[in-house]
Amino acid sequence: MRSIARPAWRIASTLRTQSRAMTNQANGRPKVLTLQSINQAVLDVQYAVRGELALKADQYVHALEDPAKAKGLPFDKVVTANIGNPQQKGLNQRPITYWRQVISLLENPALMEEHLEVIKSIYPNDVIQRAKGLYKEIGSIGAYTHSKGVLAIRERVAKFIETRDGYPADPEHIFLTAGASNGVSQILGLSLQPGDGCMIPIPQYPLYTATLSYIHGRPIPYYLQEPEQWSMNTKVLTEAVAKAKEEGVRVKALVVINPGNPTGACLSREAMEQVVKLCYDENILLLADEVYQRNIFDPEHRPFISFKEVVRSMPAEIANTVELVSFHSISKGVSGECGRRGGYFELVNLSEDVVDQIYKMASVTLCPPVSGQVGVDLLVNPPKPGEESYDQWLAETTLTHDNLASRSSYMCERFNALKGMSCQPAEGAMYLFPKIDIPPKAVEEAKRIGKPADVMYSLQLLDATGICAVAGSGFGQEAGTYHLRVTALCPGVEDYVGKIEQFHNEFMAKWA
Ligand SMILES: Cc1ncc(COP(=O)(O)O)c(C=O)c1O
Repeated sequence: MRSIARPAWRIASTLRTQSRAMTNQANGRPKVLTLQSINQAVLDVQYAVRGELALKADQYVHALEDPAKAKGLPFDKVVTANIGNPQQKGLNQRPITYWRQVISLLENPALMEEHLEVIKSIYPNDVIQRAKGLYKEIGSIGAYTHSKGVLAIRERVAKFIETRDGYPADPEHIFLTAGASNGVSQILGLSLQPGDGCMIPIPQYPLYTATLSYIHGRPIPYYLQEPEQWSMNTKVLTEAVAKAKEEGVRVKALVVINPGNPTGACLSREAMEQVVKLCYDENILLLADEVYQRNIFDPEHRPFISFKEVVRSMPAEIANTVELVSFHSISKGVSGECGRRGGYFELVNLSEDVVDQIYKMASVTLCPPVSGQVGVDLLVNPPKPGEESYDQWLAETTLTHDNLASRSSYMCERFNALKGMSCQPAEGAMYLFPKIDIPPKAVEEAKRIGKPADVMYSLQLLDATGICAVAGSGFGQEAGTYHLRVTALCPGVEDYVGKIEQFHNEFMAKWA
């Protein structure tokens, strides 16, 4: 039996509902908002990346600030390996200088207007020209923009897509967003009626199950093949569609994450064509989460191919009909500007009536953050060879890219040398998803304390080492298998992996 299940969560939320209901009386007056009265879909939303483990890690961070409490802990720092947040304190990925220079001038345009000579003495000329150009197009970044985002930026996104794929893109079909998450929830919220099915890879990034819970969509899992480096098997996809249809579910959308989170797998063109063909045959909307497109470790061997390119390169009846939404973000790649909240989606082959509805809904929230829109502009239009900032931009982005790639392969190798752990190498993204052969006695113990075994493992890892990594159950996995998702973002990787090894060996010996 397979599951993407979360029974422990349901039990926990029921218990909380019961216990808090009693405390929701203030001066005899019942609270308007109680766990019984709020939107019940919220209680079902689960997001492991920031769940119990992350909360406990926060408590350790606070405890370490208090010398008395810190003395009692077996570690002197918390390593946040649970979330792809590259510039987070402790991970130390430096922002790209060019980005911050341009943005700083837009934040404080008086510097360009009244102190140009000073600025010229500290910033390269191309930075000043870029900021001036953006300022002319946008004006104050404190003002609302067009609800789809600044047109000039969308035009440059269209150019970036055209150059990448070799097919035209229409700026009117590009929407800037507050990160890819915001785009995904806009599109899922608009596309699905309650009960409609949305196919999601397992393991998946929990944004999808969380959003589907909230909008009463039905997740239809399709399992990635771990022994084949987490590849996608079309037969598995087709069977998942057939099963859902048999159960009377209308399969409306199919999500592909490429490169994958948490798997790090990159799809071959052949696999992508099969997905597109399936969407054509079954009349399914294709949602391509391509936020890690710049995080491919060996692009010569496995270049990034976008779904837009694959769709457009297929026979005309497919190229001009398969409906596709593809998502990109400034959060990942080599910029790692995830706190700025910037991204975009491109709509391909959607009917103009629906595009208008998406625009209407985007208008309800007025506009995406303007600082994030500027980030998108810098993402799609970086300095060019010959420009003054180019060499520094290249050096900084190459370092970030190479660090990620080398940490990923180093970690994978060491994980594979451990008894009771096996890890598929990642070709991209920012994570590894090693499998842990948790001994049956430990599985029994986890059952006894009411937790999935890999949650118990990851909580104990945190308690023993200060390393915060997410249990595989938060992403979905084959029933009876256990995983851990770790980021490849942490500096001092030898030390960090050494601690995982020591913990793992002790855990395995204890429960053998
Ligand atoms: C696959 C995937 N999609 C989307 C997102 C969300 O990105 P953003 O910060 O742009 O909302 C993430 C974040 O980790 C992710 O891993």
